[in-house]
Parts: sequence; C-alpha cells; structure tokens
Amino acid sequence: MAKGNQKTDLMEKIVSLSKRRGFIFQSSEIYGGLNGCYDYGPLGVELLRNIKETWWRDMTYREDIEGLDASILMHPRTWEASGHVENFTDPLVDCKECKARFRADQLDDVECGNKGYKGRKASKCQQEGKFTEARNFNMMFKTFIGPVEDSSNAVFLRPETAQGIYVNFLNVKESSRQRLPFGIAQIGKAFRNEINTKNFLFRTREFEQMEMQFFVKPGEDEKWFDYWKDIRYNWFIKYGMKKEKMRFLLPDKLAHYAKAAADIEYEFPFGWGEIEGIHNRTDYDLGRHTEYSGKKLEYFDEQSKEKYIPYVIETSAGASRSLMAFLVDAYEEEELKKENSDGTISTEVRTVLHFHPAFAPIKAAVFPLVNRDGMQELAHNITEDLRKYFRVFYDDSGAVGRRYRRQDECGTPYCITIDSQTLEDNTVTVRNRDTMEQIRINKDTASTYVLERVK
Ligand code: GAP
Repeated sequence: MAKGNQKTDLMEKIVSLSKRRGFIFQSSEIYGGLNGCYDYGPLGVELLRNIKETWWRDMTYREDIEGLDASILMHPRTWEASGHVENFTDPLVDCKECKARFRADQLDDVECGNKGYKGRKASKCQQEGKFTEARNFNMMFKTFIGPVEDSSNAVFLRPETAQGIYVNFLNVKESSRQRLPFGIAQIGKAFRNEINTKNFLFRTREFEQMEMQFFVKPGEDEKWFDYWKDIRYNWFIKYGMKKEKMRFLLPDKLAHYAKAAADIEYEFPFGWGEIEGIHNRTDYDLGRHTEYSGKKLEYFDEQSKEKYIPYVIETSAGASRSLMAFLVDAYEEEELKKENSDGTISTEVRTVLHFHPAFAPIKAAVFPLVNRDGMQELAHNITEDLRKYFRVFYDDSGAVGRRYRRQDECGTPYCITIDSQTLEDNTVTVRNRDTMEQIRINKDTASTYVLERVK
C-alpha cells in the first residue's frame, strides 16, 4: 500500500477508535452532524481536562503568572482595536459550476466539490476559470445582545482568548500587585467561522485555546521570546510527545500584530500542522486598546522611573488541537507474537494508546479474575479505594486478555487483577500497559503504587 494511503488509513482508524471508545463524537450527530464542531465523550472529556489541568498547573503555579477567565462576549470595540474587524479575514472563492466554497489560499489542499471529479484538486478548477474573484470574508461569528438584531447590538464570539487578557491588564496587575515581567494565563473557548474545516479536530469552528500573555519591558522581549519558545516546546516533550514528530516553523507571513513568531508543529498523518504559536506581539495590543478605550494601559517601572507600554510575548496553544496531536502520537498498533498450543507462532495486533499517565482518562482498571470466591467484593473494595484519587474502571466481564485489550485501547496505564492468590496472601497483580509486565504487590498498597506513577 502506498505510504500516503497508509497515513489516510491511520487517521481513519484514529477517528473510528475515537468514536467507538467514546473520545470524540460529531456534534449533533443524530441530525446529520454540524460541520466543524465536535463533542467530547466520556473518555475525551477526561483527556481534555487532564491536558488543560496539566497546562494550568505548569503555567500558573509559579510566582510570575496569574490566571484569568474572561467572558466570551466582549465589547465590540475590542475587536476594532485588536484589528480583527479589519484583518481577521480569509479570501473566499465560489465555484460557479458546483457552488462549493473554498479558501483561495488553500486550493491545493482540498478537493473540488463536484462528486463527478473525484480526487481532483480545487486548484485545477481555478486554473480552468471556474471560480469567482476572491473576496475577503471575516471569520468572526456575529450575534446580538438583546432582542433587536441591529448593528448597534452586534457582538462577536471571541476568535481568540488573548484579548480578554489585554483588556484586563490593569485589573490583574493592580489586584495581584505583580511587577514586570509577569504573565496572565487563560483557557477558554474560541470561535472561528472557518471556510473549510478539515482533518478532524485540526481546524474546527469551535475550539479551546490555552493562552498566556507575558508582559515585559521593551528591549527585553527577544530574550523572553526565546525563553518561552524553549519552555513550550519542552512541555510537549515532557508529556511524551515524540521529538522526531515535532519541529519549529518560522512562518514567512507574520500576523498583523507580530514582530516575531515561531510555530510548534506536529507531524500528523495528513502532514505537518501548527499546534502552538509563540508570538512577539510588541506593544501592539496594549497600545491599540489604549487608543480605542482612552484608558492608559501603561506600566510605571519603579526601578528606572519610566512609564511605558509593555511588550507582550504570547504562547498560544490549541487545547483541542494538542489533544489530537497527543492522541495521534499515543496511538500504536503493536504486533505481538504468540506461541500456540501446537508450538506454532502466530501474531496478533494490539491497539494501544500510550498516553502519559497524567493525561490518561482512566488511571487504573480493576478486574476480578473470576466472579466467585469473594473476588468481586474484593475488587469492588479496591476500586472504591482507588476512586478517592482518580478515575478507575471496574470490569468483570469476559476473558482477562480481552479486558486488558479494552483498557489498552483507552490508554489505561495500570490494570489490577484479583485472583485466587489474592485470597491467600493479599497480593494483586499490576500490569503495565506499555511493557505488559505484571508484578505482584500487596492489595493495600495498590492506590499508592498507581498514584505515585500517574501524578
Ligand atoms: N492569540 C493568537 C492566536 O489565536 P493562532 O495561531 O490563530 O493564534 C493559536 O491560534 C492556536 O489555536 C493554534 O496553534 C491552534 O492550536 C489553535 N487553533 C487556531 N485555529 C483553530 C481552529 N480553527 N481549530 C482548532 N484549533 C485552532
């Protein structure tokens, strides 16, 4: 099979596993789905929360960063000041023949909308003059405050969480008594009316961002840009992402606010894609909000006795896009050799998600080997003990091998089995998801054993 097909195939397998095991569902699926929107199922919501909580802990449990949760709807002037009303546009073209809509700058990446031309790139249709002239389309979703839908009541769903931070710069600085350099972090939903949604969670219309804006003295911005580039790249590595699947890309076209930018990219089955951007936004945002609001978003430097508008170094990660990268990265189809009773060797494939234990949706599963001799009661007691600390799955149905495989597919790092020996000497087996090795430990130490390894 061609390499390209294998990669498409891999993405299909991940999408299918995501639905089957309850990670990701299409939004409003019973109505045919809503394009570019997804729902997180029982395992997906745990995974997403674990990623966000880990980010939150790593980014805000330090002296120089404060947290914030700003509202999604903001004063409409915010988006004039930020430049989004004017610049947050994509060039849109329509096909006169099949009526499909495309981003004019991505025609090589998408197929033509006409089913009769399967596999044909949209760029080919453009060369044949089938498309209208490109026109700019603003990607912000508009809605209205109150019952009257006129332009004076129009507001936007935020396309990034960053602006909620800038408009609160003085509030946070004054209430927390922070001095430069310091940052403000926020996790929250963002909305973009993308023309072409694609590649599962990669480009959606509703998604979550994990952003941090670090305010620094002008002149110190380049040093802090390098510092945050380093920290953020290593964050993904720390949580298990394969180094060879990551790279930095310095974009040739900078956003309207940026002096410098570095994208952390991941190699998805469909190609390289940005998962986080680190931007030197200079004094653009605080300067523009000062101009549009009339409120001086300045800083008085006690040491140098100067007043200035701080520069901003931004770290902007997509929570949903990072989740997809971690999911792809964790996925493995491992070939296992098995010796049969007649001495022949056969192979079987085990699908496993090698999540970092801190991200794993379920930290441990508990199995009574058989449903008799009080093993179920013991297993229930151990489950309840473990549940004080993390999410646990109790399973007493089917062969134990099948139970292990089910947990491998969910990425559960430890499976604890209660067997006849438990009844004799109070020990249980703990099986490691990645090595498949089993050890015996005292049943009363099971929660500490797992807890120490999943923290
Ligand atoms: N505040 C800066 C900012 O929003 P961005 O590069 O437009 O910068 C930052 O977005 C991150 O948000 C991206 O690296 C990506 O992970 C995520 N993101 C952006 N658009 C997205 C979309 N349509 N769907 C999913 N994630 C998206």
